[in-house]
Amino acid sequence: MSPPHDFASDNHAGIHPDVMAAIAAANEGHAASYGADEWTARAEETFRSHFGEGARTFFVFNGSGANVACLDAVLRPHEAAICTESAHLHVDECGAPERISGTKLLTVPTEHGKLTPDDLGRLDARRGDEHSAQARLVSITQSTELGTLYTPAEISAIGERAHSMDMLLHVDGARLANAAAALDVSLAALTTDTGVDLLSFGGTKNGLMFGEAIVILRPDLAPHAKFVRKQLLQLNSKMRFASAQFEALLSGDLWISNARNANAMAQRLREAVEPIEGVQIVHPVEANAVFARLSRPAIDRLLAGLSVEHPFYVWDEADGVVRWMCSWDTTPEDVDSFAAALGEAVRA
Ligand SMILES: Cc1ncc(COP(=O)(O)O)c(C=O)c1O
Repeated sequence: MSPPHDFASDNHAGIHPDVMAAIAAANEGHAASYGADEWTARAEETFRSHFGEGARTFFVFNGSGANVACLDAVLRPHEAAICTESAHLHVDECGAPERISGTKLLTVPTEHGKLTPDDLGRLDARRGDEHSAQARLVSITQSTELGTLYTPAEISAIGERAHSMDMLLHVDGARLANAAAALDVSLAALTTDTGVDLLSFGGTKNGLMFGEAIVILRPDLAPHAKFVRKQLLQLNSKMRFASAQFEALLSGDLWISNARNANAMAQRLREAVEPIEGVQIVHPVEANAVFARLSRPAIDRLLAGLSVEHPFYVWDEADGVVRWMCSWDTTPEDVDSFAAALGEAVRA
């Protein structure tokens, strides 16, 4: 029997069979290294077909690397980046932005993980003051770390405000596919068409073995990126195996069907657990994550029993909030059995 699919992270899921097949198909003979191969040329073309002819794509190993390289490619040492208090950049990259790109992060508290244009203005009082780091970039996460979404109009409004204040707009798109699937829009509608200057595009959470991409939408920002990627140890010598995966994901519908499944399973899970007394959904479920508040005894019972078969993360110990993530391979049966077991544990 294969191990169950769990709800701890969309990184717990395996590799989509089509992606695995693409890696195997690329494993024929020798090919030029560091991206000078035919798979990389095709994958870059595929990115242009999604993000527009001006898009410059740089494949990297992981999402933290993509985020930090984005900052490093466009910011000077005295320039700062604005992000939310819950941003992966701020809480889950071990201080890499500060250490590696030397970027000070200016964080903004939010209710559901989303910045607003007015948040940018609040941090503007010390523009031009040499004693203060100068905010030069805004980073938003789509879908957010709390499972919520920015609409295209909301992104445009942030982009307009950022540009009017001489700031760049970056998107941490580790789950951009989930956002596009949920909003039923193209990847460009969330980025190229809304004033986004550069983004980190996620593949690992959507069925790849590994691989993320830096996508620079403003060509004048691109010249340093390939040097930064190398200096930040993100240049893959056997690039064809990363590129082949992206080609498999993005040249057809795989990216959106995988994301749609993860999102649909999160809706199914929300519908199943919302009526359970003692389960309080704390953020709108808009992509592939469900956040719920439970009583401490219920969490302890879950961790003692249920979590062995269905591990998940306690997101906020003090507040009793847990996170359940759905993946490209989560099935309705996974959701139903998890929700049933959860109901028993909460009621016990
Ligand atoms: C919002 C977000 N950004 C980026 C990442 C990428 O991180 P990693 O460096 O683990 O690939 C993650 C992974 O959890 C994430 O959730």
